[in-house]
Amino acid sequence: ATRSLNCTQMDKDTVLTHILKPQGLSTLLGGEPPVSVINSNRYISQLAGGDRVADINEDDTPSSLDHAILTALSAETKTVILMGPEGSGKTTALEKLVLDWAKGDHLQNLSFVFYFRLREMNSLEAVLSLETLMQNHHSRIPPECIPPILQKPEEVLFVFDDLDRYKYNLNPSVHTLCSDPSQAVSVSCLIASLFHGSLLKGSAFVVATRPTKRLTFLKSTQIEMLGFLKPQRAAYFNRFFTDPAAANKALVHMERTLGFYDFCTSPRFCWTVCSIYKTLMDARKKLPETLSQVCIDILTNLIQALSLNKACSRQLVLALGRMAPRCFLSHHSSCTREELNSFGFQQFLTSVGVFLRVDGNLDSDTCVFSFTSQQMQEFILAMSFFLDKSTGGSVEKMFEEQKGRAKFLDLFLSGLSEPIQRRPLETLLGEFDPDQIMNFKSWFKSSSEEALKAYEKDRHIRFYHMLHQAQNENLVKEIITPSARTGLSYGGLSLQDSVSLNYVMTCLTELIMLNLYRTENFTEEQAEVLVPAMSLSHQIILSDSSLSVGAVLHLASAISRGVTKELDLGHAHLGEEKFKILCAGLRDSKLQNIKYYLLKAPFKHSRYPTTAFSKTERNSINTFTSCEDLGLVLTSGSSQLRVCDISFNKVGDQGLMKLCKSLSNPQCKLQKLKLFDNEVTGACCSHLMESLRSEHCVLSELDLSVNELGQKGGLLLCQALSQLGCPLKKLGLKRCELTRPVFEELGSVLSSGNSKLESLLVGMHPVGDQGVKPLLAAVAHPNCLLEELDVEMTNLTDACVVDLCAAIRASKTLKNLELSNNSLTDVSVPALIQVMEDSPNMQELRLKYNDFSEDVLDMIEECGKVNF
Ligand SMILES: *[C@@H]1O[C@H](CO)[C@@H](O)[C@H](O)[C@H]1NC(C)=O
Ligand SMILES: *[C@@H]1O[C@H](CO)[C@@H](O)[C@H](O)[C@H]1NC(C)=O
Ligand SMILES: *[C@@H]1O[C@H](CO)[C@@H](O)[C@H](O)[C@H]1NC(C)=O
Ligand SMILES: *[C@@H]1O[C@H](CO)[C@@H](O)[C@H](O)[C@H]1NC(C)=O
Repeated sequence: ATRSLNCTQMDKDTVLTHILKPQGLSTLLGGEPPVSVINSNRYISQLAGGDRVADINEDDTPSSLDHAILTALSAETKTVILMGPEGSGKTTALEKLVLDWAKGDHLQNLSFVFYFRLREMNSLEAVLSLETLMQNHHSRIPPECIPPILQKPEEVLFVFDDLDRYKYNLNPSVHTLCSDPSQAVSVSCLIASLFHGSLLKGSAFVVATRPTKRLTFLKSTQIEMLGFLKPQRAAYFNRFFTDPAAANKALVHMERTLGFYDFCTSPRFCWTVCSIYKTLMDARKKLPETLSQVCIDILTNLIQALSLNKACSRQLVLALGRMAPRCFLSHHSSCTREELNSFGFQQFLTSVGVFLRVDGNLDSDTCVFSFTSQQMQEFILAMSFFLDKSTGGSVEKMFEEQKGRAKFLDLFLSGLSEPIQRRPLETLLGEFDPDQIMNFKSWFKSSSEEALKAYEKDRHIRFYHMLHQAQNENLVKEIITPSARTGLSYGGLSLQDSVSLNYVMTCLTELIMLNLYRTENFTEEQAEVLVPAMSLSHQIILSDSSLSVGAVLHLASAISRGVTKELDLGHAHLGEEKFKILCAGLRDSKLQNIKYYLLKAPFKHSRYPTTAFSKTERNSINTFTSCEDLGLVLTSGSSQLRVCDISFNKVGDQGLMKLCKSLSNPQCKLQKLKLFDNEVTGACCSHLMESLRSEHCVLSELDLSVNELGQKGGLLLCQALSQLGCPLKKLGLKRCELTRPVFEELGSVLSSGNSKLESLLVGMHPVGDQGVKPLLAAVAHPNCLLEELDVEMTNLTDACVVDLCAAIRASKTLKNLELSNNSLTDVSVPALIQVMEDSPNMQELRLKYNDFSEDVLDMIEECGKVNF
């Protein structure tokens, strides 16, 4: 036991010295060396994802990576695969795990840990036994420690880093697995044999790899590295910058200018950003506003550090530029030494480590080189396009070649085409080629013009991204001409898209419309980004959208600060709480028109299942509370709200009574109110009557169609209308369960001389010829001001036509008459056509769905004023 304990301590000592030995040089692009991260207390445990991790945590909270690894190691399958993209901190996490074991912090029932970087084992072509491999690896372990290891495999942990960089296949089917620890086989066979348990069965494994499907044969717990999300970034910045004020300044700046890019979750990228910010802040220079500017600052910094002359610096960048497209093509995105020479790197070999990742010994032929980040690779490509005519060719050709691979190339070209932005690089490398700049600019102008004329959001957004990188307000104004279709829907944009859209929109002095129709998930972050553009827009369309609480807060604040006059939230599913938040923002806004109607069957076009929302969310304005909120807006005094469409909600009598109070308030400027289908009954009509009679009421249009007002309600409304001074000019009462007595009363109101009504919609009441008769008599009366009358579906027959024609002939005002869905027949057609031809006022007669035969079609068609 003592002996084995000594062996363990020896192993721990070698692990500590072996791993703590700094490896490679620390460069701006390569990330901070793990040892330095750990020793300087900058290690931040990221969150872990993956199916199995969710199983581990019963309460659904994301687990910390360290915890997830430890938990997975104590499970039955003691094989853990750590998956994360390039620069996501895999190596750092592995080294932390192993160092903490060696320091005695955890996993103390393990006696031995073997740590291998598989990328370095690519060159191990020798055949050897497991015993030799172990001894070679931990050279200070005496041979007598090997037997205890072999006897207690459950006390052994193997850690393999860089599995994706291992060039040999580990699938058991391609190896003859070995089971004898003293048998010499190929290294790949050794590793496969360990993985598959023919050697040291029972030992534990932690394997790190970039996302790959190569490991499906391995029974394991997969843990996904989620990288640095916002909280981890904040923690990292705080540890990087010792001064909290500097940390905060840097963090806020990064989140604003870069936080919307996925690659910000990469710890390596965070290190690069912190390093470059620190340099700039120490030199009291401005921090970069865009991704292009970050890359410009990084490259400037790297080149300066090499202290080469202008010509050499340019040659070096050109050599990198030749390598960049080649790396996109090759499978492992890496180049050999021989290839590197062909690009012109000979004299710079000692400096390449600053720009490239070097795997292997620089002097060896097996050494390979690759770019550490795709952004930098594409940036170099864009640079070399401008530096040297002979490398690039035309812009189109370059895009064609990099299609499907490059993500930021067009952005970088745009950023670099601006003289102010590229100046620091030109100072170091010499002038960019003016012809290439011209090529790009003319391509940009013509292709953006074409794209912006099209109705394709994605094509627009691509050019908005480029304009954002160019950071040139005049260029935006030059490109976004009146022919650009900026009113098309930009719904469903990513956060990154929203940033560019906002930039472009805020460069334009006047914004007619911001159309975000069908934004299925308008998040707080996205809304925050768009606040400036929303504030500047006269009209905001968010119909068919769903908004988070945070998004509504930002929308409300944008509108309260801005110039927005119209807001369309049709079929937007706010619910009571969010509606309240919105209303609070509207109280002293310039908003004049709000649409907040809902359809009974929402989501007809939407990908959301209807069940995703509760009933109350679908029918938002259904309580007293929401109407109270709306009332507060209407009576705030500073509100400019004149038009409000809340059709298809559930206002009900209680809600309408609340609104009625507002209508008679002297502060209320509301002129049009649409309450189509809102579960209102006759019970609230006395309140409505009181409001309409109030001297302060300015409501001129009211639509109450599809509510059960009934005879009692209808008669009360007539009382209101009969009062001299009633402001109503348009009244919608279709399908309100009105009766003949109501029609009679309406007729007498219209001819009383008190009514200002110009439009009356009373269709969908089966009152028949006798019922409609009083209305026709009123139309003929000189006091009646009606211009529009809708008696659709009122069971009219040919018997009414004499009165009808007389009314039309007598009226000086009537222009539109709706008679669809009645029972008129061919007999009536000649008279109707004649009266339409004769009438100087009449503009349209609608006769759809009556009982006409084909015989009269020609006659009707000839009269241009009849809609059939
Ligand atoms: C270490 O011990 C714990 C608790 O005794 C156990 O759950 C775990 O499986 C052991 N780990 C290994 C790697 O043997
Ligand atoms: C909406 O966005 C939030 C935050 O990004 C996300 O958590 C949620 O899953 C999204 N919902 C849908 C339906 O896409
Ligand atoms: C009105 O007309 C419809 C369809 O023509 C008919 O079904 C209904 O019975 C009629 N109603 C009355 C009250 O005449
Ligand atoms: C009018 O009649 C047509 C044909 O029968 C029908 O499709 C339509 O729904 C009716 N209109 C109304 C308002 O009911």
